Amino acid sequence: MKFTLPKWYDLHVHFRQGAPMENYIQAHLDMGCCGVLAMPNTKPPVTHVSGKNTEQYWTIENYLSDLKQAGGEAFDDIIVPLYLTGETSAKMITEGAKDGILRACKYYPPHGTTNSEHGADLNIYMENGVFSAMEEAGLILNIHGEEHGLSGETYFGESSNAEDYFYKNHMPKLVKKFPSLKIVCEHITTKTAADFVNTASDDVVATITPQHLLYTVADLLQGLKYHLYCLPLLKFEKDRNALLEAATDKNNTKFFAGTDSAPHTTKATECGCAAGCYTGGIAPQLYADAFNLNEDNLETFKNFLCLNGPQFYGLDVSKETFTLEKKPSTPVIAGNAIPLHTGLGHDELNWTLNL
Ligand code: DOR
Ligand code: ZN
Repeated sequence: MKFTLPKWYDLHVHFRQGAPMENYIQAHLDMGCCGVLAMPNTKPPVTHVSGKNTEQYWTIENYLSDLKQAGGEAFDDIIVPLYLTGETSAKMITEGAKDGILRACKYYPPHGTTNSEHGADLNIYMENGVFSAMEEAGLILNIHGEEHGLSGETYFGESSNAEDYFYKNHMPKLVKKFPSLKIVCEHITTKTAADFVNTASDDVVATITPQHLLYTVADLLQGLKYHLYCLPLLKFEKDRNALLEAATDKNNTKFFAGTDSAPHTTKATECGCAAGCYTGGIAPQLYADAFNLNEDNLETFKNFLCLNGPQFYGLDVSKETFTLEKKPSTPVIAGNAIPLHTGLGHDELNWTLNL
């Protein structure tokens, strides 16, 4: 069984900064990726659009040029979303959009995940003109949909969790107030979020990671497989089933690939564990596993991996192709980040990818 697919866009990836970027970018190119949404949670964060970097912040203009220099020139397109903070103004949005450098903005729940401490409460942008300016300019809002500041049972409990809370309490208000705002619900993990996206307008879509289609929190806990520790956390079987159903629906136009590939050179320490699954080099193979890819669902797989994302972002579908063959392969490990399948103790992937 061998399938030929158009090269695909990873519409949520962390390439970090400095020397390791080259390896991570190469791993993405090697897995048939033709373009990316590269996340702005660097240190310092990408909270300004253009001009020089400072000690406190980086600019999209500079980070884009770093990414290109580190091999990203080979991508058809790179979008770097602006990291929203309490300092982001409506004027920055309007001017940045006019220049064409600003194409998307990222909402991080303050202190909710890796390097998200610069984020502000969602309500601030609902009131201070930022979301209005984005809606007006047709920019895309990338949402990390978890309520911040929760702990214990409300953070992760039997009947609710931080994502569930966010999609029940904030998202309905957001889409009501800004009905034409283009929103990507990023790396969704719950049935609540999948249901929300399914019933929302066509301007509201979602990315799903390979790990959230393949695993549940039980897989993380049994043997404490910390390579599966990412945020939002893996959830339960009913959630995974809802994500799978959404992604594999024949008529799916709203759910697409965004790996959230997040390399950490040190995952577990004595004080805790860094959040993020590294899926550079192996993501299409894992998505193919999740879909149980075969002749009958090839079109649906292609919609999810290659077509729905670029369609929403207004990107051209690649004219280049790659192949996925149902034949075991051993991927090359480049750099110091351990790919998820290796971290889980698997030597081989079920699929072989060729460019
Ligand atoms: O697991 C995650 N890792 N979730 C995020 O939101 C951030 C990411 C990272 O940057 O490592
Ligand atoms: Zn991410």
